[in-house]
Amino acid sequence: MKGLILSGGKGTRLRPLTYTGAKQLVPVANKPVLFYAIEDLVEAGITDIGIVVGDTRDQIQAAVGDGSRFGARVTYIVQEAPLGIAHGVKIARDFLGEERFVLFLGDNFIRDGIVSLVESFRGNAADCQILLIKVPNPQQYGVAQLAPDGSVVRLVEKPKEFVSDLALVGIYMFDSHIFEAIARIRPSWRGELEITEAIQTLIDLGYKVSPQILSGWWIDTGKMEDMLEANRLVLEIIEPDNRGSVDPASHVNGKVVIEKDAQIVNSTVRGPAIIGERTRIVNSYVGPFTSIYHDCLLQDSEVEHSIVLEHCKIVDVHHRIEDSLIGRNVEITRSPVKPKAYKMMLGDHSKVGII
Ligand code: TTP
Repeated sequence: MKGLILSGGKGTRLRPLTYTGAKQLVPVANKPVLFYAIEDLVEAGITDIGIVVGDTRDQIQAAVGDGSRFGARVTYIVQEAPLGIAHGVKIARDFLGEERFVLFLGDNFIRDGIVSLVESFRGNAADCQILLIKVPNPQQYGVAQLAPDGSVVRLVEKPKEFVSDLALVGIYMFDSHIFEAIARIRPSWRGELEITEAIQTLIDLGYKVSPQILSGWWIDTGKMEDMLEANRLVLEIIEPDNRGSVDPASHVNGKVVIEKDAQIVNSTVRGPAIIGERTRIVNSYVGPFTSIYHDCLLQDSEVEHSIVLEHCKIVDVHHRIEDSLIGRNVEITRSPVKPKAYKMMLGDHSKVGII
């Protein structure tokens, strides 16, 4: 089997971060979201992986390379515009050939990996396997209606009336009949070739679509709140480790990972938390569910339940920063006492909460 990861897209829900960076490279517990998808595929024995890329292709290629450090061989497939998930599959036809494959949306995230799911598709005569999870708010997802015998009756995108509470997870398995289905669909009202419509077409054509119900958690990290939630869930199961330094005046409690050459000086770090390479935490407090990435400085400040990307400087911020996603190279400092004012340079679509 082959793997196809979609790592292009518009990323409108994660602006302003996605003006300058790929959302699939935002780190969750200090590892880009996309890397979890690659590792899940490799763990399931799938090492021939295509990655569909768009405007951010240079960054994705720089981060993933040829895939060898994951034990994979990666082929990049350029999508000229984000014309939909089914479009991403269509343009990967030459790469995929006639082989069965896993389609993995590059910003999707599941706890338990895909080993057993791939095994069940390998030993199954189905043309497609979809993954479903029970959600409290099905009107926000594509959902699948199942018959009493467990077979898929139909798929409905964001149903206004209740149809089912089983949402489609962004990890699918197909054989080459999916190309026949994609050839029959037209762009939706939002101008995209929709994968749910392609799967519905498979059903209508009489092909076998088999559902699997997921029991662990699943997160589509398309929005800031979802990133923080993914970060929280991964930190909860992290193994503590210290490859940096902690001075005698500091307190490190709970599950904390201190990466290589990070320094904790006269500070408290309360886990679960991760402190990135060469980052310095000085006279500060880092609270639970916080990931601070590489080469940051946190000085005389407090941060909790947040993700901070690389090369940030947070200095003299005594009011605790919480529930925040802070992009690369951001500086948050206290202004000189007079005049008393907030001074900001914020990109379009930035969000700041002040007291
Ligand atoms: P989405 O999150 O559904 O779409 P998006 O990235 O355009 O984001 P937003 O809704 O916030 O504007 O995409 C799921 C994954 O598939 C994500 O990793 C991006 C990728 N993708 C492509 O590679 N090509 C595409 O044409 C689309 C629509 C998505």
